[in-house]
Amino acid sequence: MPPFKPNRVVVIGTGAVGTTTAYTLLLRRRMPELVLIDVNHQKALGEALDMNHGMPFAGGVKLWAGTYEDCRDADIIIVTAGASQKPGETRIDLLRKNISIFRDIIQKITKHNSHAILLIATNPVDILSYATLEISGFDRRRVIGSGTVLDSARFRYLIGKHKEIDPRSIHGSIIGEHGDSEVPVWSLANVSGGIELGFDDETREEIYQNTKNAAYEIINAKGATSYAIALALDRIVEAILSNEGAVLNVSTLLNNYNGVSDVFLGAPCVVDRSGVREVLKMPLSDEERTLFQQSAEKLKAEIEKLEF
Ligand code: 2OP
Repeated sequence: MPPFKPNRVVVIGTGAVGTTTAYTLLLRRRMPELVLIDVNHQKALGEALDMNHGMPFAGGVKLWAGTYEDCRDADIIIVTAGASQKPGETRIDLLRKNISIFRDIIQKITKHNSHAILLIATNPVDILSYATLEISGFDRRRVIGSGTVLDSARFRYLIGKHKEIDPRSIHGSIIGEHGDSEVPVWSLANVSGGIELGFDDETREEIYQNTKNAAYEIINAKGATSYAIALALDRIVEAILSNEGAVLNVSTLLNNYNGVSDVFLGAPCVVDRSGVREVLKMPLSDEERTLFQQSAEKLKAEIEKLEF
């Protein structure tokens, strides 16, 4: 019998997103081993110590502040490291700062691991996921961006709030960039699989704007977003480790998808132990398709300026 190898998740970056994600994974006991890595090792040590003191209550997870060598046995490596948005900054504004950090991080990971799934959360997430694929040379199915999983959750929450219905009973998708050009798929949004929302144009526009601008609102109020992105990353980890085949709007390399190729964007993907098993076709309206293509063009123009 081969030796038993427990599932290991590594979280790189112990800022607001990394620590909240680690804490969420820990509370939900997603994996037996969880490693925190940060360029500031002291910070990672402190976070690990603090979480470990909760183990008598949470239990079941071996957690430590590690080094890139700990990536060797990892099944999923979540990258949250990098600069985050300041009030007034867009996600794209972070690209210059974060691309060089990323080159270093991905090279360090791939020195020790060539089999894991790389789950990217650092912004601009779609472009940095593309960069990760280029730098790592990994199979495209195993490079996943958090994409519009969070935006779709915000969209469903806001629709549910408006209708006074539990957001879990709302079906709704945001696709495209995780950012200012994201696209609401109103033509397919519904309650409980088919009941019409019955919104007028004004209500739709208000919900879309509030979805798209949610992060700006939170950053203005408390400096960073953390809880909902952590839950979104936890959901993606669950889908992978439990080999679920769940449909999640992660960011993936698209190939001839609604007229879009060679760019990472959020789209409905079947997520399982192999990573992104498949991207599901969405019958978009003409307007949605055009907006989706415009979102792709915007990101492609940024990618063209990069050197890998
Ligand atoms: C978010 O949407 C800032 O991208 C981050 O919460």
